[in-house]
Amino acid sequence: MSQPSVLFVCLGNICRSPLAEAALRAQAVAAGIAITIDSAGTGDWHVGRPPDPRAVQVARKYGLDISGYRARQVTEADFLKFGHIFALDPKNLKDLHHIEPSRHNAELRLLMDLVPGRKGTAVIDPYYGDEQDFEQAWADVSAAAQALVRRFA
Ligand code: 4NP
Repeated sequence: MSQPSVLFVCLGNICRSPLAEAALRAQAVAAGIAITIDSAGTGDWHVGRPPDPRAVQVARKYGLDISGYRARQVTEADFLKFGHIFALDPKNLKDLHHIEPSRHNAELRLLMDLVPGRKGTAVIDPYYGDEQDFEQAWADVSAAAQALVRRFA
């Protein structure tokens, strides 16, 4: 079987999905599992920019450097390139359904559906929030990354 490939998608690709990417990268390395991992945004406002400084800070607090990440917008081609595409909130999922090609084999679902007790819920957008909201986003994506590593182990 080929290596699993995972794409995380939020709105701006500067807060939640980069944190999800970092959490899964770290947990995959720790578990010794090879996974292709990337993140993208449904919007294009922040394309080419580094993550939000508050996201960089919370990642750094947990030992990870995401300052080199750069935002990009999700494309139709991503549905052919990735085996698993996870939306960080229900609006992102809806927007992904709007751009998904008529034929693809990717699994497309809400990220928190992977976490027991969180089916149907969002990783809350921390952009207009504070440090505590970034902590909560980190906790959510870390729980989802743990579920993914268990799944691909
Ligand atoms: P993200 O957060 O989708 O988690 O990267 C946001 C980033 C930017 C905006 C909203 C949410 N914005 O409105 O520009």
